[in-house]
Amino acid sequence: MKFFLDTANLDEIKAGAALGMVDGVTTNPSLVAKEGKDFRTLVGQICEVISGPVSAEVVSTDCEGMLKEARELAKIAPNIVVKLPTIPEGVKALKILAGEGIRTNLTLIFQPLQALIVAKAGATMCSPFLGRLDDIGHDGMGLIDEIRTIYDNYGFATEVLAASLRHPLHVVQAAKAGADIGTMPYGVFSKLLDHPLTTIGLERFLSDWKKLKQ
Ligand code: E4P
Repeated sequence: MKFFLDTANLDEIKAGAALGMVDGVTTNPSLVAKEGKDFRTLVGQICEVISGPVSAEVVSTDCEGMLKEARELAKIAPNIVVKLPTIPEGVKALKILAGEGIRTNLTLIFQPLQALIVAKAGATMCSPFLGRLDDIGHDGMGLIDEIRTIYDNYGFATEVLAASLRHPLHVVQAAKAGADIGTMPYGVFSKLLDHPLTTIGLERFLSDWKKLKQ
């Protein structure tokens, strides 16, 4: 499974990249707004740090507006993936952009038919938001299972990007469910390698080593 950082914060992205564990980045309008910087400049800077896919989202809700924004975003860097909302106008735009070779990530997916439709239309990635489903008492991880089954049944190449991951267990469960990608905030990402027994075990090895007369 690929690990994406779900942030528009350059410091977090640089810190993640330094560990060599970040395969890509997802942003959304809320994350970009938090940074208070010019959108295009910020996305360009992210693409300089991360060579893998960087999702940048349109804010138009009509097909023409989305196409215009998508074509502009795609010019920023070769690794841009244009994020489109999963609404009828978004699917119209997706088909046209797929024909132009522009990669897309269909976002705000909450049920399996949305994922089936965007895969049929040629989406590069689909983003089921499992944490937001969990938040309202639905089975977020079950959605990943359903999408995985549907995509495997028909051999769709669209990547399943498990989004809205809230904690490391979500990452484990998404990996077991066969998600191609997991995108997570830096706070979750930074805990992926942690285990208290690893920390304690290393401390003990090092203190025992110091006792050795050399
Ligand atoms: C994915 O691309 C989204 O940006 C993100 O995962 C949404 O997560 P949230 O529900 O924590 O806002």
